[in-house]
Amino acid sequence: MAFLDINDVHKSYGQAKVLNGVSVTVDKHEVVCLIGASGSGKSTLLKCVNALEPVDSGEILVDGDRVTGLGVDVNKLRRSVGMVFQSYNLFPHMSVLDNLTLAPRKVLGLKGDAAEALALEFLGKMGMAEKAQAFPDQLSGGQQQRVFVARALFHSPDILVLDEPTSGVDVRTRHEVLHLLADLHDAGMSVLLTTHDLNGLAAHLPRLICLNKEIVADGSPREVLVPEVLEKLYGAPMHVLEHGGMPIVLDHSENPMVGRFGGKAV
Ligand SMILES: Nc1ncnc2c1ncn2[C@@H]1O[C@H](COP(=O)(O)OP(=O)(O)OP(=O)(O)O)[C@@H](O)[C@H]1O
Ligand SMILES: [Mg+2]
Repeated sequence: MAFLDINDVHKSYGQAKVLNGVSVTVDKHEVVCLIGASGSGKSTLLKCVNALEPVDSGEILVDGDRVTGLGVDVNKLRRSVGMVFQSYNLFPHMSVLDNLTLAPRKVLGLKGDAAEALALEFLGKMGMAEKAQAFPDQLSGGQQQRVFVARALFHSPDILVLDEPTSGVDVRTRHEVLHLLADLHDAGMSVLLTTHDLNGLAAHLPRLICLNKEIVADGSPREVLVPEVLEKLYGAPMHVLEHGGMPIVLDHSENPMVGRFGGKAV
């Protein structure tokens, strides 16, 4: 049985349908990435997996346990699914270590020493031990992502769910995040993430699920990063080149800025 089993999920906010019969399975030890335009339902699907949003119909199972419907054991779910949010922030006036131990002390009721010992262990796993006393603005974007993941490790999750871990980061940070995903995979974790970064991140991952309120395609980058699928995803024609055996997506949609600064379409 798949570790995560999303089966025919429908979800609306009011009148607006956001997920329309979505079915996805993620096995143990698999890294799976959701791609799709803004508003295509990616974050909503992740929230349904973590029972932060209810589904209207359909079923989601995590390790055989139902996440949807009545009687869900939310505490057990939170232990098996670690979530790293799109807009999560660290408190700027607190060190990395204090940021990490705050919730475990307040919410999990851990004693300060125990929380610190665990935080240092998780920071070590993330290659961040020497940054424990640093403040958030002294960290790169990729290092901050590692702190977010370290925070999620307090629950010893079997699957990590990351919403746009590379949004707004530079090229180097993107590489750091790719290394982080590989490290998590090596550690035996399942990972479900979202990204808008088709060339920098998605194209390097083993399996992409293309979402536009419903599943448009599911496969390797070579299988799904093709013009027909991309047009269904983004509603605009896109070209795909190949470089070193990897697809590169070019956005050739009409660009209103072309020529305005004397430049040409690329
Ligand atoms: N809590 C909410 N209440 C009402 N509508 C919502 C809510 N959350 C999301 N939506 C709407 O549902 C749709 C899907 O949103 P969602 O956040 O899942 O998209 P997304 O694919 O993650 O987009 P992005 O790439 O911009 O993060 C959007 O139209 C959004 O406005
Ligand atoms: Mg989102």
